[in-house]
Amino acid sequence: CLWVRNLRLKRRLPGPFAWPVVGNAMQLGQMPHITFAKLAKKYGNVYQIRLGCRDVVVLNGDRVIREALIQHSTEFAGRPNFVSFQAVSGGKSMTFSNYSKQWKMHRKIAQSTIRAFSSANSQTKKAFEQQIVAEATELVKIFLKLSAHGQHFNPAHELTVAAANVMCALCFGKRYGHEDVEFRALLEKVDKFGETVGAGSLVDVMPWLQSFPNPVRSMFKNFKDLNQEFFGFIQNKVQEHRETFDPELTRDMSDAIIGVIDKADSDNGLTRGHTDGTVSDLIGAGLDTISTALHWIVLLLAKHPEMQTKLHELIDKVVGRNRLPSVEDRSSLAYLDAFTYETMRFTSFVPVTIPHSTTSVVTIDGLHIPKDTVVFINQWSVNHDPLKWKDPHIFDPSRFLDEEGSLDKDLTNNVMIFSAGKRRCIGDQIAKVEIFLFFAILLHQCSFEKCANEDLSLNCSYGLTLKPLHCKIAAKLRGELLEGE
Ligand code: HEM
Repeated sequence: CLWVRNLRLKRRLPGPFAWPVVGNAMQLGQMPHITFAKLAKKYGNVYQIRLGCRDVVVLNGDRVIREALIQHSTEFAGRPNFVSFQAVSGGKSMTFSNYSKQWKMHRKIAQSTIRAFSSANSQTKKAFEQQIVAEATELVKIFLKLSAHGQHFNPAHELTVAAANVMCALCFGKRYGHEDVEFRALLEKVDKFGETVGAGSLVDVMPWLQSFPNPVRSMFKNFKDLNQEFFGFIQNKVQEHRETFDPELTRDMSDAIIGVIDKADSDNGLTRGHTDGTVSDLIGAGLDTISTALHWIVLLLAKHPEMQTKLHELIDKVVGRNRLPSVEDRSSLAYLDAFTYETMRFTSFVPVTIPHSTTSVVTIDGLHIPKDTVVFINQWSVNHDPLKWKDPHIFDPSRFLDEEGSLDKDLTNNVMIFSAGKRRCIGDQIAKVEIFLFFAILLHQCSFEKCANEDLSLNCSYGLTLKPLHCKIAAKLRGELLEGE
């Protein structure tokens, strides 16, 4: 009845006491996703915190998160109107704009562009795979060079250049050398992007921090600068494409996007700025995520030499030593995929999705959430949910294999790293192919070792992605150095 409904509407969401001015901002700690999971034990899987001037609802655990993102997909499909989000790609990013008819169109264009250049037909599939193979074999050479005379090195930047090159080849038909100083400098700057847009960043919730010198203000200034520089780089490249555009010849993703947005017949509200924004979304999203995934894989290989040996034996048996692995080998390399899924689950290196917001009032787990509420979705808590996973804190790839040694698809589907619902990552398929090929080729060609007297730490920095902090490894060539086709 109405009376009960009104009473429930008024029921405040559970959650910790919020201090004046800062709310719970000072309680998040270094690893907010772990704090969020701890708070869920006390207040339940749906609770509210206050960050500065914003109420934020935090969702935790497999059941609640899937219910919200899948059963209530439209209600949870929004993005908050954060100032940092508006600073991305001159406000024309698809990833950071709110749910609307125009956003739907924008997302469809981005999605079909990805498909057209990665899996549309056997030719594009092959071309995409060859790009990755070329990049992976180049990476092998660089790793070996950096490990000459048994030196140990941090692979982070080389992995970022490799991942960026795959996306630049798709979008611009051009890759950059690892020694290209300008490109490296740009990527080093962009590396800090995730610090500001990650859930729990204070820039957006404490606007008064902008009025006097403090670390948050300088972080936001750096964020605006890096976005301008990165977007400027993209705009230049897209402009070059516009000047040489030929409707009869689609050279790469930039041409394809120019074709559907700049040259569109219908007035869908999307402008040239959105063309640039789409290219920027695709390159930006494919940088940090893929390189971070590979960084954790290499680190965990070096940390677990017994698993690495098992993988080496498997790849030598399936592929042999005379050729490089290819995607056709994937179905025979279940343990390699299991290692990747376990890396995604165990590290949950995108611990919380990009912040969402509610597009209308919604009830989840019997609790009402008003329209336009900021929502944090704790993917880490799905991947460490004790109701779903046995010993979630232990790294054990074999949990994904069934008795026959095949990949257990029901279990791999339970890993949440690409989110779900209307905002689910649109690069998940190309990401999986990329990670598989890089991983398989690195493993086939190299063995990875940690420093003899150090135990590799899993310490990492928090942001949109969790990045390993102190990872030094050495790569050793296994047999003969092979080139791609
Ligand atoms: C969004 C994960 C690679 C394109 C996202 C989101 C996550 C994610 C968690 C946010 C979803 C949400 O807010 O609920 C990953 C991971 C990757 C990866 C773990 C690699 C291992 C890629 C690649 C591309 C891509 C390679 C494209 C080339 C996008 C785009 C969005 C997105 C465009 C925004 C979607 C939207 O807001 O509607 N990704 N991603 N991602 N991803 Fe990925």
